[in-house]
Amino acid sequence: MGIISASNYDEMSDAMKVMKVKNYEELSKTAAEIMINKINLSSSLTLGLATGSTPEGLYRYLVQDHKSRHTSYEHVTTFNLDEYAGLNRDNENSYYYYMNHHLFNHINISPENVHLPNGNTVNLEEECSRYESFIEQNGGIDLQVLGIGSNGHIGFNEPGTPFQAKTHIVELDDTTRKANSRFFHTINEVPTHAVTMGIATIMKSREILLLISGKSKAEAFKRLIEGGISEQFPASILKQHPQVTIIVDRDAYDC
Ligand code: F6R
Repeated sequence: MGIISASNYDEMSDAMKVMKVKNYEELSKTAAEIMINKINLSSSLTLGLATGSTPEGLYRYLVQDHKSRHTSYEHVTTFNLDEYAGLNRDNENSYYYYMNHHLFNHINISPENVHLPNGNTVNLEEECSRYESFIEQNGGIDLQVLGIGSNGHIGFNEPGTPFQAKTHIVELDDTTRKANSRFFHTINEVPTHAVTMGIATIMKSREILLLISGKSKAEAFKRLIEGGISEQFPASILKQHPQVTIIVDRDAYDC
């Protein structure tokens, strides 16, 4: 994997760095390299992880690196951002299934160090507070990986979500259900609700890595860079986080 040269950085503010890369492969490799370097520096890192199409390449590189260079996840802990409500963990559309399939089954992480909200429980409210406190008791998240929705959502925090929200239940936006229906047989199968870390939970992470790829995210990237901070565009709050790196590919920044 190549070394990231400083000239690839655009400083947006003291805190927010934008790394422009050629394409999705480079985005994935660069993100993997950042994560692997951190794991090598601190073996007991706590990672916040995302699902969706964007981090698939990153996870592929992490698996490849684990196999070839033996980076160890023995002491790494993970917390996922979100999970659908009402899906069994072995349903192949659950995020639990996704994480096992793309990452956990292929690295030496201990199952007891892997955490996702349980979306398939009768008391979702209780699950939200349990998850929120559990992250805190664990000492918080060192590095949170994020994707972004075309409407600016992060996690499942849709436009209009209060910035002070902690882990909570959400009703999914139609645009989000439509976007995610590509993984299901029909749109009716896409759950209507999910459990997600809130914006406040995400903002407590010590560092954030936001991945933005493809033409369908170009508008969101532009709005993030050029727009103001508003609950109508949830990702805009990241401008107030002290340590954010955005990795964006040409399709998303050059439209
Ligand atoms: C997934 C998540 C979502 C996705 C976003 C982008 O855990 O929290 O916010 O990051 O919907 O999804 P993709 O990468 O599929 O475009």
